[in-house]
Amino acid sequence: MSRKWNFYAGPSTLPLEVLTELRDTMVDYHNEGLSLIETSHRSPEYDAVHYQAMDLVRELLEVPANYKILFLGGGATLQFAMVPLNLLTGDKICDYALTGSWAKSAYKDAAKLGQARAAFDGSPSGFTTLPVNGGGSGPALEASPSSSYLHITSNETIGGLQYKTWPVPAQGSQVPLVADMSSDIMSRKIPVEKFGLIYGGAQKNLGPAGVTLVIIREDLLERSPESLPAYLSYRVHGEKDSLYNTPPVFALYGVKLVLEWLKKNGGLAAAQERNEEKAGLIYGRIDRYPEIYRCPVEKAARSLMNIVFTLDTPEREKEFLGGAGERGMLGLKGHRSVGGCRASVYNGMPLAGARALADYMDDFAAKGGKT
Ligand SMILES: Cc1ncc(COP(=O)(O)O)c(C=O)c1O
Repeated sequence: MSRKWNFYAGPSTLPLEVLTELRDTMVDYHNEGLSLIETSHRSPEYDAVHYQAMDLVRELLEVPANYKILFLGGGATLQFAMVPLNLLTGDKICDYALTGSWAKSAYKDAAKLGQARAAFDGSPSGFTTLPVNGGGSGPALEASPSSSYLHITSNETIGGLQYKTWPVPAQGSQVPLVADMSSDIMSRKIPVEKFGLIYGGAQKNLGPAGVTLVIIREDLLERSPESLPAYLSYRVHGEKDSLYNTPPVFALYGVKLVLEWLKKNGGLAAAQERNEEKAGLIYGRIDRYPEIYRCPVEKAARSLMNIVFTLDTPEREKEFLGGAGERGMLGLKGHRSVGGCRASVYNGMPLAGARALADYMDDFAAKGGKT
């Protein structure tokens, strides 16, 4: 089989080695005479996978001992509700940095449960800028000291913006920083100790869809109200090591394999270097041919994961995407809400894939915007 270059924004390309291992162990898992997909989540075989995955997350991200690692279902979307349901206290005020579509979705759910404030609003720039203390040129982001938490979206998958530095929620206060890292978790090193809670769906950088990783500082588990239904409570999941109910067993096995692959390939520092190189190739072409390609995002805030760009007319974009498809490059169409083009180059995208796209961008430009 000849594999296509998969630039979809998620679920997205996985390392071939991981796919091959999933195939090879699909029917008979390590000579156990059964597949992991049909194995009890209380079995010793699954138990090993579960705790190995947890240990690998801790090791790769250097998660301090006072944080719990949870594997949940429901996608990052469930976290939009679980974060306020668990963390709102007192006057139920929370702060959100509105940097694009995903931040707005999280904010809207929080506003149904408490007093959600927009501590930063990127809409005047058309969501092309980040706060100055996130690495962009927009106004500084700060939470109110009475806030239950400050929520940011570390990488806006649709808009193509990514935080480079981490805001301090409110100087001298205990307001925890909460981050949706769905589209850049494990793509670079991060100082976990600066965050109260981090969450992200696995299906971009970490494995198949179905698992949501949550990393939560242990003292915040005490905020979960007793009145919450069990599944919605971080405290319940924390007490049971994410085995309160049936976890997404097979997807988690995929995550474990990706984590092993990351470790074998030099950990997160090396992953970051690879991601910088891949994104550099594509942004390099956008900047080299300004008459053909344009990236709307301010340079300082450009995402290494989702590279968004437009061409001058919808017809030219159609031509570009058609030519890419003929060359085996898939998923380059921008999100339906914004149009344009988007190349998602997560951990699993090999350098050769980014090179193939950069070469095609050269050809397309050399032909004056034709295939
Ligand atoms: C930044 C971000 N947050 C949240 C989500 C929603 O994730 P899920 O589909 O896993 O609920 C996505 C999905 O693409 C995302 O990119």
